[in-house]
Amino acid sequence: MKQEHSFSYELHENWKELPVQDQILVDRAFEAMQAAYAPYSKFKVGASVRLDNDAIVTGSNQENSAYPSGLCAERVVLFHVGANYPKQAVQTLCIVAEGDLIPSEKLLSPCGACRQVMLETENRQNNKIRVIIVNQDNRALIINSVIDLLPFGFSAGY
Ligand code: THU
Repeated sequence: MKQEHSFSYELHENWKELPVQDQILVDRAFEAMQAAYAPYSKFKVGASVRLDNDAIVTGSNQENSAYPSGLCAERVVLFHVGANYPKQAVQTLCIVAEGDLIPSEKLLSPCGACRQVMLETENRQNNKIRVIIVNQDNRALIINSVIDLLPFGFSAGY
């Protein structure tokens, strides 16, 4: 039997059109991006999350000369939240980046491993995470739930 899966998302021509709370989160992600350690890829990524208590926590990608030892910005920030604010749910996650690896008009999109970690965070807290992706051309995409980024994702059955 044929089945279909679709999802809706928002596309904004410029992230400065977003509600002020989201703009603050984007600003914090750009700020965090400055601390990226990316001498190998020269692709700097910043991530910020707004927790349920409205606190903002940030992270950035951290690379290593033993390449696979590095970690993406999204996992840096989500694992930091898990380790330091285990009782707080993540309300919104914002991702920004800078570098030639991805042409500026192309969608910046989290890697598969980060989607997996984002999905488990969402499942554990039993509450959807909004994801704001800001392209290098300043367009912003808002996705309502991680499940839209990883349908049929592997899950431990939370
Ligand atoms: N990277 C992230 O931090 N997040 C992503 O969503 C994709 C890629 C990092 C990993 C590596 O340090 C650099 O960007 C190039 O892949």
